[in-house]
Amino acid sequence: MCEKLNALADVVKTCTKCGLCKTRTNTVFGVGPIHTDIMFVGEGPGADEDREGIPFVGKAGKLMNQAFAGLGIKREEVYIANVVKCRPPNNRTPLKEEAMACLDYLRNQVIIIKPKIIVLLGNTALKNIVGEEYGITASRGKWIEKKGIYYMPTFHPAALLRDESKKVDFWNDLKMVVEKMHQFHETDA
Ligand code: URA
Ligand code: SF4
Repeated sequence: MCEKLNALADVVKTCTKCGLCKTRTNTVFGVGPIHTDIMFVGEGPGADEDREGIPFVGKAGKLMNQAFAGLGIKREEVYIANVVKCRPPNNRTPLKEEAMACLDYLRNQVIIIKPKIIVLLGNTALKNIVGEEYGITASRGKWIEKKGIYYMPTFHPAALLRDESKKVDFWNDLKMVVEKMHQFHETDA
């Protein structure tokens, strides 16, 4: 990790900006390279993540790892983070005020990491990052470009665990991400 990212992770570790600080075991800052083309953003840590301090290590994470393997994405080559860095009790959706309190950290992560593509996993990421007017069912699979960053909304992997039929869409959305990444590399060359 670079100094700036380390310093930010240190600030997060002792953060008390919202009520989620009271029930967390560990903060879950994010993992991945300092600079990378693709960033994945989920909702918030679950029980496994809270215990380990690493995003997407539980069931939803295992599903993401399978998708990465199928798509030829190396997990260690992408950056993975969440809207909130502390686990909401019983895995409830983060409240608006919790997401708002935490979002500056994610903004700073984006500024440092400089991804070209951000994959928004589910409604919490979609609504808090690109706008409340969006909804995952209508928006998934369609690029949203804002300030030079391409956002791809798709289902949260936990939604796939509840409803297998969403897997095809998830897969197709991530294939679009891989294709776009290849396009970027072609124009860079
Ligand atoms: N769900 C999320 O949104 N993030 C994680 O890190 C794990 C599960
Ligand atoms: Fe701070 Fe974010 Fe944790 Fe709230 S969720 S205490 S804002 S790090």
